[in-house]
Amino acid sequence: MTAANISLTSPSSNNTVAAHTLFVCKTCASVWQDGKRVGESGGQKLLREIQETAESWELKDDFPIQEVECMSACSRSCVVAFASAGKLTYLFGDLPTENCAEAILECASKYYSRTDGVLPWSERPEPLKNGILARIPTLS
Ligand code: FES
Repeated sequence: MTAANISLTSPSSNNTVAAHTLFVCKTCASVWQDGKRVGESGGQKLLREIQETAESWELKDDFPIQEVECMSACSRSCVVAFASAGKLTYLFGDLPTENCAEAILECASKYYSRTDGVLPWSERPEPLKNGILARIPTLS
């Protein structure tokens, strides 16, 4: 299954969809020399691949991608997170820098389609099954 062929419905009953954000750490898997990053980091590669893949993603206008400097999971790079008001927040790590964008967007599409944002292990794409770092409860 690809991100493009998941059936999407509004997770809210009044047809207003809460804002969603896909956070991508661009500092993960960096090589440092004399306090400066050398070359392109793994996070930058992953971010670029996600942005390119999202060009044809049906949720590209509803699920913006936001690059961040760090999500304090540096030892488990690469790291992304899904967040939305009224839903669980997920933090995923140990993601490869290449050939992972499709899986991330597929999982993001599932997250979008669920009212509570719950992403059962069995329904997550392979790269996002074992690398889960946090599942943060919804604010009540
Ligand atoms: S450098 Fe990516 S989480 Fe800290």
